[in-house]
Amino acid sequence: GKSGYDHYMLKEINEQPHALRQCLSGRVDELDGRVELEELDDLIEDPPEAVQFVACGTSYHAALYGARRFRDRGIPAQAFVASEYATEVPPTGDRLVIGVTQSGETADTLSALREARNRGVETLAVTNVVGSTAARECDHALYIRAGPEIGVAATKTFSSQLVALNLLVEGVANGPRSGVRPRSDGVRGRLAALRELPGQVQQVLDESNAAEVARTYLDSSGYFFIGRGYNYPVALEGALKFKEITYEHAEGFPAGELKHGTLALVTADTPVIAVVTGDDEIARKTVGNVKEVEARDAPVIAVTDGRSDVERYADEVLEIPKAHSVTMPLLANAQLQLVAYHVANELGRSIDKPRNLAKSVTVE
Ligand code: M6R
Repeated sequence: GKSGYDHYMLKEINEQPHALRQCLSGRVDELDGRVELEELDDLIEDPPEAVQFVACGTSYHAALYGARRFRDRGIPAQAFVASEYATEVPPTGDRLVIGVTQSGETADTLSALREARNRGVETLAVTNVVGSTAARECDHALYIRAGPEIGVAATKTFSSQLVALNLLVEGVANGPRSGVRPRSDGVRGRLAALRELPGQVQQVLDESNAAEVARTYLDSSGYFFIGRGYNYPVALEGALKFKEITYEHAEGFPAGELKHGTLALVTADTPVIAVVTGDDEIARKTVGNVKEVEARDAPVIAVTDGRSDVERYADEVLEIPKAHSVTMPLLANAQLQLVAYHVANELGRSIDKPRNLAKSVTVE
């Protein structure tokens, strides 16, 4: 049942701290600075030189994040929309193709994985469903352990995918388990950040003002979500969730791209939801993009960890706690899930079963 919640989606948003703890449980040796992914022992013993991700929808956004994590650890990685994968010229050389699929049954993703296997490439399924087609057909499977998700909108499975991908990258990038080498590359800090994450997500859920913010911007003509770096997949995911359940027009962009055309649509009637976190050059540039839209009278809703410069330009602030750069996106995403939920709820939408959509899409 919905355990007292009005919708499964809200229940599942609130289950995220628990889901993330499940995903991490028994898999992290923080003291030693390593992850234990028994099911992937073979892969970690003989890590790939490069990885390619294939996925759809929300899982594709997780894949964009995952590919960036691999690149940050020095492993070449790209993310493909699964239905486009077969149209791409295959690269040569040792690589692993990773299908990110909550259900493990998405036809486009299964067919991309089959294409990879036909080309003789090793495959890994990152999935929530034990025994799913993706898990059975791939050489390896990594389970995200999010528990059942009933709402069509993917919420806790997205967060769990991001955490599982962090575990995967630490496993693969830190090489064979036998080789004891000093971990001076920040791995312990990232593992500690993962441990702190469920509590921080809980804090966001407990303290969020997303319901009030949602009520203020119900009658807008469009919604633009922007973010840069790790917050770029968050912007895409924020917009997808928003349109999926509110039926309002929304688009997500890399923050710097909005000015290359779409700025023509930005008016006082198009709120811009800007995800701006951290205190580096990346965040500073996004603040510049926020100024551009503010100058066009767009209401600015900032998701931020307390950056005063962006708060100055923002009409509304959705605050998140300060966190590590790899876990921050999950905190920002929790705020965007709540915004989408509350706007959809105010508009009386069919939140758990949006029109035209199915939980798993089994046709190409
Ligand atoms: O089961 P999968 O993760 O393969 O599903 C892929 C997409 O269909 C899915 O993420 C979809 O975009 C979500 N329902 C959006 O909330």
